[in-house]
Amino acid sequence: MRKILLFVAFAVFIISCKHETVIPEELESPQISHECDSDTVYFVNDIQPLLNATCNTSGCHDAGTAEHGVDLSSYAKVIQTGEVRPFRPEGSELYEVLFESGDDLMPPPPQSALTSEQKELIRIWISQGAKNNGCIDDCNLESVSFTSDIQLIISNNCASCHTGTSPTGGIAFSSHSEISALANSGKLMDALMGSNGVSQMPPSGPMDDCNIDKITKWIEDGTPNN
Ligand code: HEC
Repeated sequence: MRKILLFVAFAVFIISCKHETVIPEELESPQISHECDSDTVYFVNDIQPLLNATCNTSGCHDAGTAEHGVDLSSYAKVIQTGEVRPFRPEGSELYEVLFESGDDLMPPPPQSALTSEQKELIRIWISQGAKNNGCIDDCNLESVSFTSDIQLIISNNCASCHTGTSPTGGIAFSSHSEISALANSGKLMDALMGSNGVSQMPPSGPMDDCNIDKITKWIEDGTPNN
């Protein structure tokens, strides 16, 4: 019995290792989020541009040359031919070659080696799962308005519990006067941040930063009914 279990565990291990090297659903189109997280390294924003400047060049690792079969011109090719092992920079060719010596070092002399910051970008991207990810910061705080921003944010994120005749927690807000009263009492921001002893709202987890930034801006503007 023990042996069978061990065998099953081993088989699962092998299968999961294999599985790790390919991420089919992500191979074609990148996941673009509408907010850039400063702790995340993005393939589209950070890694492909770095590879384009240093490796994906004619005579080296562009699609046409693909020296040693390594083509660094797209996400799928980088994963497959750069032998990237998601979450394991030390087991990934793409990362290891940055530290080799002599002819094995990439980029090869006389080209200069990558800087430690550039190497670090590649290391973090792989250790975060080598995802086909990107981001666009499209949170526009120039013209925040009550009707087109704040009211929508509240109705999408809070109204399910905080409207009607018997709202949750006995607290209802949907009109401009109710929402601005809540904002001016400080309770709105406290609820959004989970600060000053107020429970974090929504209870399922904080809203995305862009929504919170818009509400903050609207309060700074004096909670106008615009
Ligand atoms: C799934 C239901 C639900 C959603 C969605 C929700 N709330 Fe609440 N809210 C509650 C409950 C339950 C309480 C009472 C919890 C407590 O007092 O600990 C509460 C209490 C509050 C309070 C009063 C806190 C206090 O201590 O006086 C505020 C303010 C508040 N919510 C704001 C919001 C805002 C703003 C949103 C949207 C961003 C939101 N809530 C979304 C369920 C919800």
